[in-house]
Amino acid sequence: MPHPHSRIAGTGRYLPAEVLTNDDLVRRGVETSDEWVRTRTGIGQRHVAAEGEATSDLALAASRQALAAAGLAPGDVDLIIVATTTPDVIFPSTACILQDKLGARGGPAFDVQAVCSGFVYALSIADGMLKSGAVRNALVVGADIYSRILDWTDRKTCVLFGDGAGAVVLVPSQKPGILATRLHADGAQRGMLCVPGQVRNGTVWGDPFVHMDGQAVFKFAVRVLTEVADEALAATGMARSGIDWLIPHQANLRIMDATSKRLGIPHERVVVTVDRHANTSAASIPLALDEAVRDGRIRDGQHVMMLGVGGGFTWGSALVRWG
Ligand code: UT7
Repeated sequence: MPHPHSRIAGTGRYLPAEVLTNDDLVRRGVETSDEWVRTRTGIGQRHVAAEGEATSDLALAASRQALAAAGLAPGDVDLIIVATTTPDVIFPSTACILQDKLGARGGPAFDVQAVCSGFVYALSIADGMLKSGAVRNALVVGADIYSRILDWTDRKTCVLFGDGAGAVVLVPSQKPGILATRLHADGAQRGMLCVPGQVRNGTVWGDPFVHMDGQAVFKFAVRVLTEVADEALAATGMARSGIDWLIPHQANLRIMDATSKRLGIPHERVVVTVDRHANTSAASIPLALDEAVRDGRIRDGQHVMMLGVGGGFTWGSALVRWG
């Protein structure tokens, strides 16, 4: 039986224990300073996964919290989507590994590769599958370990990223929760942010580290985030002033400030974690969402706008009514 709507019934997050401050990076030989990183990006520190931790382990911890919040037993999970660019292995998918670690069986499980927009992509797919009646519930996770694909001698990229995971549980609903999602990609822009290496015949071919044209990304991100927010609003007939909380991808505080300013949303209505988490790619939006839900900022009936942008280039929005 198709359901008219889906809603988020629970959220969770996990951050690895080890914290690296900007000063720690300087001590480790990165040619930077706390002042430069804070001024240009708003980042003060990042979490880094331990040697033995896999992306599926981060996802597992966040998923357990989200499932507990939703009152759903891990064995009752149906659809699992993991948004990640740093999967445990080439295959099977991190979602299949997560399904096994959770003790769930039989429902569909797959990864979504849309880099930093991955969580919004995955949420949109899960929303559609729930509304069609294809699945009973969905666990949607954003999880990434960028510390393993960074060139720690490249100060232009290594100061920007961190590791973490965030998760939400989606359930069918008679009243609207996910109000609208909008997704986009422009593959012609794929060179702006990429990890160009590949595994071939048993060796890594090409460069396996993150490369980025920072200034090009900056300009592109501010433009498309504003546009895609407006698209989701137009789909629902809501005005910009109806947004209670803006949760943009946590890449850089200046991108977030510029986007919120363009949208006319005051700074205190923007959820910010980039100062403590840095850019955790697909995990950044669900991490910020969980923090603002658990500390009581996001309340029932409020409208939350999530905005993702990342390599591909990809971008997307999800407008949600909470509760
Ligand atoms: O999910 C999307 C992820 N990507 C992003 O969000 C990135 C968006 N872009 C940005 O956040 C900014 O472009 C950056 C933070 C990456 C760079 O800031 P910028 O203001 O665009 O700096 P820049 O690249 O123009 O570099 C200015 C100077 C350069 O020195 P010179 O050539 O002027 O002597 C860089 O070498 O800053 C230098 N620099 C650094 N200095 C200290 C670059 N990185 C660092 C660093 N510490 N970590």
